[in-house]
Amino acid sequence: MEPIRLVDLEPDLGDFRADVIAGLSKERKTLPCKYLYDELGSKIFDAICEAPDYYPTRTELRIMRDNMREIAELVGPQAVIIEPGSGSGLKTQVLLEGLEEPAAYVPVEISREHLINSANQIAAEHPELEVLPVCADFTQPYDAPEPTREWRRRLVYFPGSTIGNFFRSGAADFLGKARKLMGENGAILIGVDLKKDPKLLKAAYNDSGGVTADFNLNYLRRINNELDADFDLDAFHHEGRHNEEEGRIEMHLVSDRDQSVTIGGERFEFRKGESIWTESSHKYTLEGFAELASGVGLEVELVWTDERRMFSLQYLVAKA
Ligand code: AVJ
Repeated sequence: MEPIRLVDLEPDLGDFRADVIAGLSKERKTLPCKYLYDELGSKIFDAICEAPDYYPTRTELRIMRDNMREIAELVGPQAVIIEPGSGSGLKTQVLLEGLEEPAAYVPVEISREHLINSANQIAAEHPELEVLPVCADFTQPYDAPEPTREWRRRLVYFPGSTIGNFFRSGAADFLGKARKLMGENGAILIGVDLKKDPKLLKAAYNDSGGVTADFNLNYLRRINNELDADFDLDAFHHEGRHNEEEGRIEMHLVSDRDQSVTIGGERFEFRKGESIWTESSHKYTLEGFAELASGVGLEVELVWTDERRMFSLQYLVAKA
């Protein structure tokens, strides 16, 4: 196994305390979703992916498996796979195994520890692959490392409908940066969750096993542990709300009573029924996403979906 070369642009992770205080001081209380994914949060998120009500993960995996041949033909041999966000998952395995002689794999991840772990895991499983991890915030510009061996095309792989976390302007911004990163003959393979019956959406974000609730409430646990706060986790409940006009699911933590909470000595008041908005998950129509991509010079070359049109996997290239 080749030793791993790490490109280290590890950013300042941001000031958790300052972000929490700022979000909870707003008229409409919010908290940035990136802090949901601490160690425990990431474990609970993995459990969400296994929950029967949460359709995206298994649907996307099936789409990948059913169409891997065609994907491999489009991408061609000796591709450099760049994956913003960590890639120890099953979908990445399917991709790396299904492609013809991939030249290199470039995971891009903000948490250095997470990055090194998944890079080592992939390198161990694919001794033939050059693994070139980049520690960076993937919403910021970064350069793709140059593999030592010959390569023909860059493929930016962005599964999981993580694009849905962004508001629409942020999503366009991300796609524009990915276009620059992939270069003129590059491509983007992206998972995009689709608009559908609100009942199915609500079930996916309010799963009957309560895993999503646990994931969301873990935010308060993290604030208690790291910022010396006294949130009563039994006095808030999770709600995954469907916002029809904005075409998204919003995750909220709703206060069950009037109460005050102290965070490192600062007091915050919550009215009964008042919520903290913690995450958004935007849903697209195929037309809507094509339009978004077109706005940043990208064209949808091919789309794969499941039978029920729940989820899409899309292959984007530079507009002719
Ligand atoms: C990781 C952003 C794709 O929006 O479906 C799932 C996050 N939150 N259930 C999603 C999430 C609650 C997930 N993404």
